[in-house]
Amino acid sequence: MRWAQIGHRWLIRLMMAGVALQFFLAGAGAFFATDFDVHRAVGYALIPVGAVAFSFAAAARRHRVMTLVALVLLGVQAALGVIAADSEPWVGGLHGMNALAVGAVVGTLTGRLFEEGRAERIALAGSREPVAGREAAPAPPRPDRASAS
Ligand code: HEM
Repeated sequence: MRWAQIGHRWLIRLMMAGVALQFFLAGAGAFFATDFDVHRAVGYALIPVGAVAFSFAAAARRHRVMTLVALVLLGVQAALGVIAADSEPWVGGLHGMNALAVGAVVGTLTGRLFEEGRAERIALAGSREPVAGREAAPAPPRPDRASAS
């Protein structure tokens, strides 16, 4: 389904931006430029976004496994954050490591969707315009000239 495919593409882009923002906020928080309230809020907000992205992926029947993996990793990320903040500070190290996994999966998905979108645009343009390196099809003779000769 086209709408699900387009929705999925935009939600994955949103997730990629959110993950990048999380790294920025974590870095800023580490140097006491800000507290972790926004980081926490964005982190929890990414979970429902991932869930909707997964339902779109399921409807579109594309990239279901990777989108599900991203969603699960986001859940694990929040759980590791809670454990680290509540009782086991060393688990914070795993929160940082798992963030790399989240970034890798969401980043790979973003790249694949970008390539798919590009291929679609090229295919669409190719059906309208001559492709570089390939001769344009000769224009059909105009009926008035064809009849004159
Ligand atoms: C995919 C990227 C990330 C996501 C989705 C994410 C998500 C979260 C969430 C949901 C919490 C709240 C846990 C709670 O309720 O206590 C949290 C806390 C925290 N995160 Fe992240 N995080 C990410 C990346 C990082 C990175 C890269 C770091 C630093 C290496 C980091 C450092 C922290 C810290 C220090 C807290 C505890 C804040 C506090 O309670 O004072 N996070 N994160």
